[in-house]
Amino acid sequence: MYASIKSIGAYVPKKILSNEDLEKIVDTSDEWIFKRTGIKQRRIASNEETTSDLGVKAAKVALKRANLSVKDIDCVICATLSPDFLTMPSTAAVISHKLGIHDKPAFDISSACSGFVYLLNLAKAFIESNTYNHVLIIGAEKISPFIDYTDRSTCILFGDGAGACVIGKTKEKEKSILCVHTSSNGKYADLLITPGGGSKNPCSKQMLDDKLNFIKMSGNEVFKIAVKTLTKDVIDILKNNNIKAKDIDFFIPHQANFRIIEAVRAKLNFPISKTILSVHKYGNTSAASIPMAFNDAYEEGKIKNGDLMLFDTFGGGFTWGSALAYFDGE
Ligand code: ACO
Repeated sequence: MYASIKSIGAYVPKKILSNEDLEKIVDTSDEWIFKRTGIKQRRIASNEETTSDLGVKAAKVALKRANLSVKDIDCVICATLSPDFLTMPSTAAVISHKLGIHDKPAFDISSACSGFVYLLNLAKAFIESNTYNHVLIIGAEKISPFIDYTDRSTCILFGDGAGACVIGKTKEKEKSILCVHTSSNGKYADLLITPGGGSKNPCSKQMLDDKLNFIKMSGNEVFKIAVKTLTKDVIDILKNNNIKAKDIDFFIPHQANFRIIEAVRAKLNFPISKTILSVHKYGNTSAASIPMAFNDAYEEGKIKNGDLMLFDTFGGGFTWGSALAYFDGE
């Protein structure tokens, strides 16, 4: 038995924050943002919506498309850097309750933008060790409360949203999650960090005055390491699985910056027509970015049962990873 992706679903908040809107808030321009990142707009969740609400909406779509009810789900895992609550309960536990999944394990993972690939790795291990039959994985982010909208170097990048998949079983290798590779290097922690609010810099008036509760990024350094690391990771996963770039039906990269995606794509000599892009619409939605892009491509009728997908991602930690997976949904 192999693990496979049975369905994909996503939820996109209604409110749009365009580059033109940001021009009115910080010293930036649509031209600068689009040229440097490929982003035109991002979505912002309402005051009433929490990360778990976004996750619940995405999960409902994924469950419906898998033709499953909540009773079929054995485990719920959520990847997020913007949980409903800082320490507990986990966002996965809140999502499970809201969905009506009871007495089943639910937990969060913290691997920033690499969340979705880490989720695939965990779900694959649970399924292939025969621990569970169906695992619901969710990447959900309401990042906007963690963004300093006076800091033009970060506020232009991030958006809110959620994506979810049901991972189940298949007997066919050509329908399975073939391989997942994940890695990290904590040496680079300070380059992409939310410095305050945790046990190192607990919440205090001083911490808030210093704006340490917001995401800080050394963008240029992150950019260079991301391109180098991702290119190697993607070349390695293809080589280790004896798969050529031409065998891939769709390349679905983490949507952080079009220039990072383009650098990896060009190195692989992979056609742009088979590269899924949603960074222009949603910005960087961290753990939700790959499943949101995947969902768009699915809804546009591009991705069909049996298609081979290549995912890659890079994020805070640093964490990174890539995955080769067939789509086993309808
Ligand atoms: N508008 C106008 N000018 C700006 C803006 C802005 N929004 N932001 C920065 N600038 C200026 C800078 O001040 C600098 O000006 P200077 O030359 O006078 O000093 C100039 O533009 C160049 O700044 P850089 O930071 O060098 O710009 P860069 O080309 O690197 O682009 C960016 C910045 C878009 C952030 C890019 O570095 C990037 O995408 N980095 C990687 C992001 C990423 O992939 N993160 C990983 C995932 S995120 C996660 O895990 C949560």
